[in-house]
Order: sequence, then C-alpha cells, then structure tokens
Amino acid sequence: MNFSEAKMIETFRSVVRFKSIETDSVTRRLDRAADIEDLRKIAKRRLPRGVFDYIDGAAEDEVTMARNSGDFDRIEFKPRILRDVSNIDLSATVLGKKIPMPLLLSPTGFTRIADSQGELAVARAAGRAGIPYGLSTLSTRSIEDVADAAPGPKWFQVYTWKDRGLVSEMLQRAREADYEAILLTVDTAVLGRRERDVRRGYTLPPKIGLDTIIDGVIHPAWTLDFLRGGAITFSNVAGRDGDGTSAVSLSDYIGTQFTQALSWEDVEWLRSQWDRPIVLKGVQTVADAKQAVAVGVEGIALSNHGGRQLDGAPSPISLVEPVAQEVQDQADVICDGGVRRGSDILKAVALGATAVSIGRPYLYGLGAAGERGVDHVIEFFRSGLERSMALSGVRTIDEVNRDLVSLR
Ligand code: GLV
Repeated sequence: MNFSEAKMIETFRSVVRFKSIETDSVTRRLDRAADIEDLRKIAKRRLPRGVFDYIDGAAEDEVTMARNSGDFDRIEFKPRILRDVSNIDLSATVLGKKIPMPLLLSPTGFTRIADSQGELAVARAAGRAGIPYGLSTLSTRSIEDVADAAPGPKWFQVYTWKDRGLVSEMLQRAREADYEAILLTVDTAVLGRRERDVRRGYTLPPKIGLDTIIDGVIHPAWTLDFLRGGAITFSNVAGRDGDGTSAVSLSDYIGTQFTQALSWEDVEWLRSQWDRPIVLKGVQTVADAKQAVAVGVEGIALSNHGGRQLDGAPSPISLVEPVAQEVQDQADVICDGGVRRGSDILKAVALGATAVSIGRPYLYGLGAAGERGVDHVIEFFRSGLERSMALSGVRTIDEVNRDLVSLR
C-alpha cells in the first residue's frame, strides 16, 4: 500500500458509519417522518382512499382548509437574543388547570376508521403527555371506555341531538366519568359539503362494496386491523336508533339526528345541565365571541371545523388577536385549525391564544403508525414549541406576548 492509498483508507474509515438496522417497522416508519406532512403521506399510503379522503378532505373547494394553515405563514417572529434559554417551561393554564403545554387534541368523529384502537389510542397518548383530549359525541369508543383507558384530562364534545333527554344523559355520563369540560360544537347546523366524500359515495362506517374490496386488498394492514377490530358503531348511543350499525351518509345522519334550531338559549340550557366549564367550539367572528362571554362560557374555540363546514370562513389564527383583545381575561381562547408545527403554537399564543388544538395531525399519526404515531405527533409539537421558544428567546408561556411576532 503506498502512502496515498493508506490516506484514502484512513479518510474512508473516518467518515463511514453503518447504522444498526432497525428491526421494528413502526419505529423505522416514524424515524423517517420529519413532519406532519410526512405522516400524512404515510397515512395516505396505508389507509383506503375513501377513509383517507374523509379525514384529509374539507368542504367544497377546500379554500378555508388551505388558509387555516397558510395564514400561519403570514406571521413572522421577532426573535430576541442572548436571553439564557437553558431552562424552558412550556406549561400553560387552560380552563383553570395547569397542563404541560398549550396543546389540546380536538374531538374527531369515527376515529376507529384510522386504527382499530381509535379513541382509546388517542386518549392514552394524550394522557401520557398530560394534555386534554376532547372525545367526540360521534365517537366509536364510549365515554366510559375512554375514561377507563386513559386517566389524563378529558373533555366531552356535544352535538345537540333533537332528543334533549339524550344530551342530558350523555352529560351525566361525562360528569360521572370525570370529564372536565364540554365543547359545544356550534358550526354544524347542517353538514358542510365534503365533495371528496360525495365523489366516492362515502358512508360511515365505511361500507364494503366491490370498489372498497379492491381498496381493501391494496391496503391489507388496514383491512386486517379493521376486520379484527369488530363492528364500528357510534358507541355513545349503542343499541338506539341511529347507533351507526347500518352505513349512513354523515349529512343524512346529522340532518335526522341533530337539531338545526340550536340557538343562544340552548347554551343557557346547557349551562343548567353542566356545572363545569363550557367551551363554544366554532366561533368565527368577534361579535359572537363577545356574545359568548356575555352568556358566560369559559372558553371560546375559534374553529371552522378544519375547513369542513363553511368554505370561505376565516382562518382561526386570523381571529385570535381581535377576539383575544375583545374578550380579554373573560374566557380562554383556543385556536383550532391549521396548526402544523410547534412554532404555530408559539405564534398563536403570541397573538393572544391560551392554547391551540389539533385534529388531522394526530389522525395522520394514528393512520400512519397507530397509537405510537399519536405519541410521535405530540412529541413533534412539544419539541417544536420548545425549540421555537429557545430560538426566539422566551422561557415561559407567560413571557410570550405580542412583541414576539409581526404580521407580514
Ligand atoms: C365530523 O364532525 C366531521 O367533521 O366529519
């Protein structure tokens, strides 16, 4: 070996590193998912097309959905330097309770279509992180089963059924199972037109027809998990008319089961039925936020249902500042929609939000890798928030204020 060959070998040795082979396929999958979009792509590969589109899609031209996340890009940080960020505390107070970071998991209907553990998996992951999980009225695991599976903080989402007795009964069950708050969804008088679902003739639970059999064969892991998981029903109304045992289109279901006559008086009625905090989910104007604090709700969730209802509705992040200014300390302000990074949490808090809430991101995690996918998503947001705080010179959530951002 001459000198230059020896030199080459030495250089080669100094740079070559063989990674040990990761034998666990879920870890392998998650290790490579750098952001939420990566998880979305994995979920798209693994879920049947109709299921993926139901989760991923939104109303009409999906303009509002795109703006929900796009509007975060208009916010620019004004990072401060040399501020000793060796200790960062992400904890926040939401509805009077301290939680490890200002992040909540939004209620999503029919979570079992993404993974057979469904709401149990999501609630357990939220519980491990100590952040509140909102269970949907239209969940595929019951109020009690979720409470038994996950000891962390839980909220219950309410749709107002025509049958008031049913609502009272559910609230009673939620109280007994220690749910800390309710989210009254107020943006679903009728269902938004999700045109991806229209094109596919999508029903809930997904029906198995010729097209779906082919889809099922192309997605064997999902199909096996789905078939092994047992029939999907709306667990909170099991055994009643409309418990989802036969496949329905969601718009028919909402039209027949839920009241279109919901009004401010119903919020007062709800107050008489529930003595813990109430969050109005689906506030989309400053005027309604003012009215919400006037009727005494504890929380305002700025939300357009992930762009799934009124296309052309404003993005929640664009409403945070004007609403927070108006309601001051009279109610917590939650920004729900388009949050895709830890830095988005920081932007929303800087503009006046108490916390943010995510829906699709954890469903992508669940569809991509089951319960561990949800853990991965929560950790992605936690570490992103921590890093963004370090890089912009803030150490606590209390220290975050309007001076941290400007609007482009
Ligand atoms: C249910 O709430 C949905 O948005 O599909």
